[in-house]
Amino acid sequence: MAKILLLGSGELGKEFTIAAKRIGQTVIAVDSYKNAPAAQLADFSEVINMLDGNTLDALVEKYKPDYIVPEIEAIRTERFYEYEKQGYTVIPSAKAANFTMNRKAIRDLASKELGLKTAAYRYATSAESLKKAVSEIGMPCVVKPLMSSSGKGQSTIKTEADIEKAWKYSQEGSRGDVAEVIVEAFVNFNYEITLLTVTQRNGKTLFCPPIGHRQERGDYMESWQPAPMKTDVLKEAQQMAEKVTTALTGCGIWGVEFFIADDGVYFSELSPRPHDTGMVTLAKTQNFNEFELHLRAVLGLPIPEITQERMGASAVILASENSENPTFEGLEKIASAAKTDFRIFGKPTSRPYRRMGVVLTHDNLNGNISEVTERAKMLVKEVKVISN
Ligand SMILES: Nc1ncnc2c1ncn2[C@@H]1O[C@H](COP(=O)(O)OP(=O)(O)OP(=O)(O)O)[C@@H](O)[C@H]1O
Ligand SMILES: [Mg+2]
Repeated sequence: MAKILLLGSGELGKEFTIAAKRIGQTVIAVDSYKNAPAAQLADFSEVINMLDGNTLDALVEKYKPDYIVPEIEAIRTERFYEYEKQGYTVIPSAKAANFTMNRKAIRDLASKELGLKTAAYRYATSAESLKKAVSEIGMPCVVKPLMSSSGKGQSTIKTEADIEKAWKYSQEGSRGDVAEVIVEAFVNFNYEITLLTVTQRNGKTLFCPPIGHRQERGDYMESWQPAPMKTDVLKEAQQMAEKVTTALTGCGIWGVEFFIADDGVYFSELSPRPHDTGMVTLAKTQNFNEFELHLRAVLGLPIPEITQERMGASAVILASENSENPTFEGLEKIASAAKTDFRIFGKPTSRPYRRMGVVLTHDNLNGNISEVTERAKMLVKEVKVISN
């Protein structure tokens, strides 16, 4: 049986661990705090700072895993190249993990090297250079720290007066030692999607039906699958996803994010791992959920096909306050609704906007996707995270 070193043990890692344990694999769950969701189920768990390269090296040396599976971005990914040289398998690859942790690397690859359509962009390293970048890109535009996720440090500049604020905010939300930001033209998209893409060690690249989602504060609120879209638009997104995943190399599931606008399909960014909006697949929308697909790809087990079995939606359960002992109210209401289910991640503490669980709704393939999504959105309002 394979030994999997899981770097990051949140809700996505937890479902991945469940998938792995179902087929008898060994999982070492790593995070920066004790009792993280995946750590509650794994064979072994470790609490370390994954941005510290030496600590990471020691952990790899200690377990000698068959697969190193990152679940988050905040890892000293430069070390991954060394692990590959030593013969370890990094998922999907050292290059993929390293390029996607920094917006500059992945954006330049997608736009300059691969020629994918993206929002016009510039970089800035100070409030002064941000001003220049904004004048070149035009307003409105979006500012993001090069190293950040879940919308942290991200803001939209609408007028000159926002520039100084946007710079300050970006510096508060930036992870790691890089002070640089990317400035992107605001894309007035009609809708956005995540295209879950699976690259296999010995097989062709597969695509899941597209997932639609709605974001607030840079975090997803609801996601639904399938996102209705024209076949030729979907084809174009698939081709772009295939290009970028091929360039990044390796096998696993990827969440490739696109904006769909009147003037075409824009590549936005991608995660070389299961995607949060892909939790909708826990509503049994597919023959294999995104975690099972990832696991198969990691282990090199064939995936003959991905089939859509139902339509579904997910809506996130967010905490509203700090608690050392969070508990839930209103789950009976969710449980008494037909074609509905939920997950509680088991995070030991809460803070405002922390994602604590997810409500899942579904219908058969003849249903109405807006209705299914609306149902998830209404039902999630019934759940409250309270302090016990
Ligand atoms: N150039 C843009 N034009 C319009 N909207 C944008 C643009 N960039 C980002 N957004 C909006 O902000 C959301 C978050 O942006 P992005 O995915 O780049 O950030 P993130 O911090 O990496 O988020 P996550 O880690 O949650 O995926 C997007 O899904 C989209 O709704
Ligand atoms: Mg994103």
